[in-house]
Amino acid sequence: MKTNQELVGRDFLTIDDFSTEEIEFLLYEAAELKKQKGILDVLKGKVLGMIFEKASTRTRVSFEVAMLKLGGHALFLSAKDIQLARGEPIEDTAEVLSRYVDALMIRTFDHRTIKRFAEAASIPVINGLTDTHHPAQVLADLLTMKEQKGRLKDLKVTYFGDGNNVAHSLIEGASKVGMNLTIACPVGYEPDNQIITNAEQTAKQTGATIQVIHDSIEAAKGAEVLITDVWASMGQEKQQKERINVFAPYQVNEDLCKFASDDYIFMHCLPAHRGEEVTETIIDGPHSVIFQEAENRLHVQKALLKSLLS
Ligand code: CP
Ligand code: NVA
Repeated sequence: MKTNQELVGRDFLTIDDFSTEEIEFLLYEAAELKKQKGILDVLKGKVLGMIFEKASTRTRVSFEVAMLKLGGHALFLSAKDIQLARGEPIEDTAEVLSRYVDALMIRTFDHRTIKRFAEAASIPVINGLTDTHHPAQVLADLLTMKEQKGRLKDLKVTYFGDGNNVAHSLIEGASKVGMNLTIACPVGYEPDNQIITNAEQTAKQTGATIQVIHDSIEAAKGAEVLITDVWASMGQEKQQKERINVFAPYQVNEDLCKFASDDYIFMHCLPAHRGEEVTETIIDGPHSVIFQEAENRLHVQKALLKSLLS
């Protein structure tokens, strides 16, 4: 088991930034921190700056509360209210903020934006979602699967929907922990080829399998975990109507879930659109673990912040 020492000062832009051992350490830490109810002082005097270019409920609140629970403080920086929106360069913003705060969490559109921040900043930069990655979400998802199913290795997980941010981080996560992951998506909405190729390399060491298919029923067969996400992500609102037609065969509903393992769990990063990517009967039904998954954002965030900052 690794120690905090090896994670101190690191950036967390993608799941791939951490090794299998480091991910296992973070999940172990998160489970330990979940048991502790009071306020710790491990990050006393430390400040996290949080820049949001997109809306957020879970990411904002879980990072802010995690800092508070570890004895530190978090600053919410709405991108439209800081000089970034008026054209101040990313590099200047990163350099200045590095002199005020101890770490930055950023939610933005283009992944290249967060990479530029990380290159210019002298403090850890954490990805709170970009168009192509959502690594903090997937750490919480892995913790939830481990709690629910008792293992990650060889777990049969199927993701239904768009091959974008959540799917990409899930692919990277699955490859690190040895899962059998299937992505079921419409033609033209497949995950990025480079991410799959890299994950396949990692999978050679961990025994993971990653497959992308278009047949949702085939993908559901025997799945122990069914995951989905919205059909139109933040920034894609104008495509909402056309996406509803394209993604309809990938809706997680009672007919589809009949093909899953009897004791399957249903997961969703939230926010969800009931009646689109998932029916009410499934998301609010007995197999759903969405609120445990959302709660785990907090515990994983605590483990991450403690490890990068203390
Ligand atoms: N799952 C997730 O990242 O939720 P928010 O958009 O509310 O942060
Ligand atoms: N794929 C979604 C995830 C939201 C947490 C989006 O990017 O909007």
